[in-house]
Amino acid sequence: MKFVPQLENMTPYVAGTPIEVVARRYGLERVIKLASNESPLPPFPEVLETITQKFHDLNRYPDSECRDLKTALAGRYGVAPEEIIIGNGSCELLIWLSLIMLEPGAEAVFSDPTFLVYEEVTRARGATPVKVPLKDFANDLDALAAAVTGKTRIVFLTNPHNPTGSYQPYSRVAKLAAKISENCLLVLDEAYNEYVEAPDSQDGLKLRREQPNIVMLRTFSKIYGLCGLRVGYGICSQEVMDAVDKVRQPFNVNMLAQAAALRSLGLEARLQERRARNRDGRRQLYDGLAALGVTNIPTQSNFMLVDVGELSVPADDVPEELMRRGVIVRPGRPLACPGYIRVSVGTEEENGIFLEQLADLKK
Ligand SMILES: Cc1ncc(COP(=O)(O)O)c(C=O)c1O
Repeated sequence: MKFVPQLENMTPYVAGTPIEVVARRYGLERVIKLASNESPLPPFPEVLETITQKFHDLNRYPDSECRDLKTALAGRYGVAPEEIIIGNGSCELLIWLSLIMLEPGAEAVFSDPTFLVYEEVTRARGATPVKVPLKDFANDLDALAAAVTGKTRIVFLTNPHNPTGSYQPYSRVAKLAAKISENCLLVLDEAYNEYVEAPDSQDGLKLRREQPNIVMLRTFSKIYGLCGLRVGYGICSQEVMDAVDKVRQPFNVNMLAQAAALRSLGLEARLQERRARNRDGRRQLYDGLAALGVTNIPTQSNFMLVDVGELSVPADDVPEELMRRGVIVRPGRPLACPGYIRVSVGTEEENGIFLEQLADLKK
């Protein structure tokens, strides 16, 4: 079969192994997954009830325009519904943005390492990825700005950064934004925004208001616990939304996802509690790792990179050894962080199990 030539430079995205697969493979009764930066908590009970009620309407297509959800998001952020795009997860929005901006000869600038999907959508369009090394495990904003050329059509920036969890103040992001021309998009991917403790955590939105070439992405996949339904959103100029609408598939966000996201927005007050639980979980992991003499990269998110270079097994074998013991984490090497594993913050019990099993590899 002759496929488009750009596929030759691409490899499939390898997602975290599902719990059932690991349980079956190793004959385990209890498996915990700390591999995909998911919420350890289920959707809010009211959301589950809303989803159940919607089952009866599944013979109908969903609202292709996501009108109710857009109106609710517009109200929350003080923008017009025409400034919102909604996708089957924010990953889908990355595809739509690449479709409207990238083509062979165009460049997309992003950190190395970063969220793997940026490179995937860039290469799929036959465009050229321009990868900028991290500095001290964080996005190097000056170097990213320096990498922007006349050919750059998108700069992808995740803040907090994935896979390190590091965070850059928006005063610095603003300097990068100021260097990007009006014909280039700055995609400010804030998938983990709700976990950030820094006082300027909402300043990405201010930047977006000031600069129409910024698209701010957020998702219901993380703190809301809805990644299984797939719904993410972007705040952008109406011009960008109109362009996206030309390439977007109709009915791209399913009915259950729309209803669940809408109901979740009505329960925002309870996010505080989830944020606090994540903060406690982070602290539990920091303290537990320190007690083991294992270091980690400080994080503003719901995951962290853990240095596994000094255990009794080689770093590359640690994910497999932990999996055998019923703990799924993300190997660092495929994320371009050899010597590390990426661990999501779980419940208190899950964090405890992870620390216990890691201690076993210390001996
Ligand atoms: C930086 C970043 N952006 C986007 C996403 C995708 O989120 P969604 O589930 O909304 O597609 C993730 C998921 O892990 C992520 O880490």
